[in-house]
Amino acid sequence: MNQIADLQNISKKSVPAHVAIIMDGNGRWAKSRGKPRIFGHKAGVEAVRQAVSFACKNGIKVLTLFAFSSENWRRPDDEVSGLMELFTWALGSEVSKLNESNVRLKIIGDRNVFSENFRRKIAEAENKTAGNDRLLLNVALNYGGRWEIVNALQKIAGKINSGELAAGDISEQLLTDNLEIPQDVDLLIRTGGEKRISNFLLWQLAYSEMFIPDVLWPEFTEEVFKEAVDYFASRERRFGCTGEQIRGE
Ligand code: FPP
Repeated sequence: MNQIADLQNISKKSVPAHVAIIMDGNGRWAKSRGKPRIFGHKAGVEAVRQAVSFACKNGIKVLTLFAFSSENWRRPDDEVSGLMELFTWALGSEVSKLNESNVRLKIIGDRNVFSENFRRKIAEAENKTAGNDRLLLNVALNYGGRWEIVNALQKIAGKINSGELAAGDISEQLLTDNLEIPQDVDLLIRTGGEKRISNFLLWQLAYSEMFIPDVLWPEFTEEVFKEAVDYFASRERRFGCTGEQIRGE
């Protein structure tokens, strides 16, 4: 198959293989109800369940959620500790359901800063679901896109120093293969109204479509996810070509 024919194939795909979500708006949702911010984060867990359920039912292969950025440590201490407790609780309470649904869980980000107890819980959840292949659920915790790229470069530099690789081997594919997430994102969804990437998946978002629904994260449902996928299906993805080339005119 020639390259344009291949691109026509990709441009017509209606279900995105990899969806990434910036889950924003929990704080505003809670504030509008006169509640503390952590109330919004707790309500956000149900929206995560809705997103995972939709992805499983609709043939999405990879779902990547931005749960805690490397910059979120700057938030008030009580919010940070509340979020860490919530993540620890969610790991324990949700992992069996994920396993039953044949979902593989992977935590991405720099986990060195987490407590030993939390790191052990992460490893247990990842090991328990390691053989599942219906959906890969990546949850980004203490994650930053620049960190991920630097981390990949450090791994490559180590292999060059040891003689396993030569500097001439450096390529886009090699960098991709050394990232936490090697899959390109097809569709990025950001709730909460902001039109920013916020240091998320900088490399993998190169060609992704963006959908910004007018909802705060706790309001996200399977119906909103469907709107995002319908929007994705309506897009003509050009990958640098002209529309005529993609349509074969
Ligand atoms: C951003 O909203 C949200 C977060 C920093 C936390 C996301 C966490 C959850 C949805 C909890 C459940 C997650 C998992 C993976 C179980 P914000 O606080 O910035 O909202 P704002 O913009 O309204 O202030």
